[in-house]
Amino acid sequence: MARILITSGPTRQYLDPVRYLTNASSGRMGSCLAASALAAGHEVTVVSGPVNVAYPSAANVVQVVSTKEMLETVQQLFPSHDGLIGAAAPCDYMPKRIATEKIAKDGKPLQLELVETPDIVATVANSKRSNQWVVGFALETEDQRFRAIVKMQKKCCDLMVSNGPTAIDSELNDVEIIAANGSTVAKVAGTKQQVADSILQAVHALIQSRSSESVN
Ligand code: C5P
Repeated sequence: MARILITSGPTRQYLDPVRYLTNASSGRMGSCLAASALAAGHEVTVVSGPVNVAYPSAANVVQVVSTKEMLETVQQLFPSHDGLIGAAAPCDYMPKRIATEKIAKDGKPLQLELVETPDIVATVANSKRSNQWVVGFALETEDQRFRAIVKMQKKCCDLMVSNGPTAIDSELNDVEIIAANGSTVAKVAGTKQQVADSILQAVHALIQSRSSESVN
């Protein structure tokens, strides 16, 4: 049994009290991962942005809004977990300034200055203990495999799930699970629940290989 932390869904970055930047992530992949992990007997905590999907009732769910809030929550929780699956699609940009009052229309174009938000998976994976593991997702439109491997190295992940843009807000997914040495662990196309089960199998194989390494 492991303690697994899952990030899920989108985050929101407010421009003013009523408007925000976000993306179409549904949280479905995170919910299916939580269900697979619970079915395999693990303890699960989900850190989720605002979503309409329901998470399994046996999962501990922490709701957040912004990328910074998601990062702070994950940083707080990760030390008490064995691994992190970064299935969230955190908003990558935030306005440099947040207006305290609703921005009034004045007929002119509105210029927004955006700055990058922190990368949760990269930040957390950089500080992981040797017995902790991190699984990242890479959503790419081109050179999916190559870019997923580059991203895995950049973000210090132990496994990468490479998928395409059709995954967003869909019931289905088509993924390749890639190991840290660049080898293909599995290719799966099917429902997000089937994909989640395969990701959990890959996590089990990773945990198993680590424990046999430490015995030998
Ligand atoms: O760089 P990109 O957004 O494609 O990376 C995707 C992976 O990084 C996913 O696992 C996602 O959850 C994670 N991520 C993150 N924090 C961000 C952006 C992405 O944890 N700000």
